[in-house]
Amino acid sequence: MIRANDNYSKLKASYLFSDIAKRVDEYQLKNPEAQIIRLGIGDVTRALAPAVIKGFHEGVDEMARDATFRGYGPEQGYDFLRDQIAKNDFQDRGADISADEIFVSDGAKCDTGNFQELFAKDITMAIPDPVYPAYLDTNVMAGRTGEFEGGRYGGIVYMDCLKENNFLPKLPDEKVDLIYLCFPNNPTGSTATKEELKVWVDYARENKALILFDAAYESFIRDEALPKTIYEIEGARQVAVEFRSFSKTAGFTGTRCAFTIVPKDCMIFNSKEDKVSLHAMWNRRHSTKFNGVSYPVQKAAQAVYSEEGKAQVRDQIAYYLNNADIIRKTVEFLGFDYVGGKNSPYIWIDGKDRDSWDFFDLLLSRASVVCTPGAGFGRCGKQYIRISAFNSLENVTEAMDRLKGALQ
Ligand code: MLT
Repeated sequence: MIRANDNYSKLKASYLFSDIAKRVDEYQLKNPEAQIIRLGIGDVTRALAPAVIKGFHEGVDEMARDATFRGYGPEQGYDFLRDQIAKNDFQDRGADISADEIFVSDGAKCDTGNFQELFAKDITMAIPDPVYPAYLDTNVMAGRTGEFEGGRYGGIVYMDCLKENNFLPKLPDEKVDLIYLCFPNNPTGSTATKEELKVWVDYARENKALILFDAAYESFIRDEALPKTIYEIEGARQVAVEFRSFSKTAGFTGTRCAFTIVPKDCMIFNSKEDKVSLHAMWNRRHSTKFNGVSYPVQKAAQAVYSEEGKAQVRDQIAYYLNNADIIRKTVEFLGFDYVGGKNSPYIWIDGKDRDSWDFFDLLLSRASVVCTPGAGFGRCGKQYIRISAFNSLENVTEAMDRLKGALQ
């Protein structure tokens, strides 16, 4: 008899963004005339930059000729891309990361979800609340949690991120082995300074712990004082893995390309005396389960680092940041407290006494605007909604006008 992985029965029936899509589809069916504006899932809307398209085309053209055709590429990614990443995203910022510490993949969601496979089942994990749901759900699937009760899974150390602590997790009271951090944060849009990250790096070094650092939104950082990578913090090479993505940086949500940095100094322990290289383990996992990102997509990603590519993707981010400004101003005008939207595409809005799903339904029914209910990211999000700046300027402006009409 084929039997199910019973950890799946601990999960909520469907993934947050699938739940939202279902509700929105039902609303559209009942209101076929409604012009829905989607500011829910953080999905980009701008076309790929011209330089990126050129790189993509070149890759496709090479695949069209026997002489330049490519079959399987290196699982870890082509050197032409890894070299550019190492130089532009790390070495030029003074972060000591080499090309062979970079693993190119098809998405940060897959990598953040898959990385937990390397760890023992009985480690202690610290996860922020609210949090990007894939970190938690993949650990539930792997059997690393207890049951879901009172809005939380047993066996997890939750780090509340609230107004009182500036939406920054604080060090847990108990000893933990694995720590998930994300800055600029999804969903709150909050950011962390070098000093704030150093506290975590020091903690991890003292406790032989590991930080999984999701930096998928680093390209939204405009404040030069803020770190764009955890490797700007001294000592992070020994205790941190970083996840990056071209999805939000260069509009690759439908194109698929990301990368994960696993420094060779990072160790993982079988026992106090017996340590193994995390890089070697991830390499083993990656080359066993993954056959590399397609050649044209990697050529497209390489073009992000050309001079034109850099300028064009910077303009794209500026476009979304301008949307974020418009959203922030509207939220301020309406008298809500919020965080984010400055070095981030997300604005995290305090609905005061409103339940987040009620607030979601209200915006959908009165304004045909889709947001993300904070409860979907954890218990601490139950009175918040997240509005995303990923849409056209016209749609964001229209959505904010509708919000003013619906909420004033
Ligand atoms: C989000 O809306 O939180 C993200 O777009 C989801 C994702 O990147 O998978």
